[in-house]
Amino acid sequence: MSEARGLASAAAQQPPQMQHVRDAQEVLRLAGLRKSYNAGTALEVEVLHGIDFSLQRGELCALVGPSGSGKSTLLNLIGLLDAPSSGELFLAGQPTRTMDDVARSSLRNDGIGFVFQFHHLITAFTVLENVLMPLMIRNGRPTPAQRERAMALLQAVGLAQFADKKANAISGGQQQRVAIARALVTEPALLLADEPTGNLDTRTAGEVFELFRRFNRDFGCAVLVVTHDPRLSQRCDRTLTLVDGRIVGDERHPQPAPE
Ligand SMILES: Nc1ncnc2c1ncn2[C@@H]1O[C@H](COP(=O)(O)OP(=O)(O)O)[C@@H](O)[C@H]1O
Ligand SMILES: [Mg+2]
Repeated sequence: MSEARGLASAAAQQPPQMQHVRDAQEVLRLAGLRKSYNAGTALEVEVLHGIDFSLQRGELCALVGPSGSGKSTLLNLIGLLDAPSSGELFLAGQPTRTMDDVARSSLRNDGIGFVFQFHHLITAFTVLENVLMPLMIRNGRPTPAQRERAMALLQAVGLAQFADKKANAISGGQQQRVAIARALVTEPALLLADEPTGNLDTRTAGEVFELFRRFNRDFGCAVLVVTHDPRLSQRCDRTLTLVDGRIVGDERHPQPAPE
């Protein structure tokens, strides 16, 4: 993974806020987090009933639980895509609930990477352009150094030879790997993945998962991954179990040291 390690040198040029998120030991802390949908209407329903946990730098953590238990709702809150009804969410020690939209989106863009079950690549663009997208949204035209970083990530996910292909010219498993490279191009301190292997076959799912582990070890980024597959959650450092909007389990799994 020398390509990925080479990427770390780019950290020196990051804006101060990102540096701060990256250096924090406690990447994430949730305190009494609650979420209701349709608040103030007859359809109001609370789906998260007070969530408390924290995630340390470098932790690879699975989030499991039955369908409808609130996993996606929780990930959307952590990703600052939606706001909690009460409680507090700290990213790198910073309380986020009273942040204005500008500060929230800047923290999200700089500190958090997302991988969804469906990769949402833009098929009219090339594989490389898709990976560069988060940087282009932030800065406009990518710099040569950023293109190099994106290529290094494509190399790391085994897809450098497809860089100039249109995104719909590669297989579903390959597209999901492109989505992972895209999520990591900003070198986020926290990677959130919502059933990223849900529509992949077992072997491809295993390979995609292995990428999370590699980036987690190489960059020290914390990873929170929703999965239904017990074989994958066992390969994480830790498993959080969510049932009916409450954390009912927090289990550690000692992992063998990397070769
Ligand atoms: N936008 C929404 N409006 C109302 N209810 C919602 C909304 N999104 C999710 N829910 C409800 O919240 C609960 C948790 O959903 P979700 O977070 O998607 O669970 P999971 O990802 O664990 O399957 C479910 O009962 C779901 O129907
Ligand atoms: Mg879900």
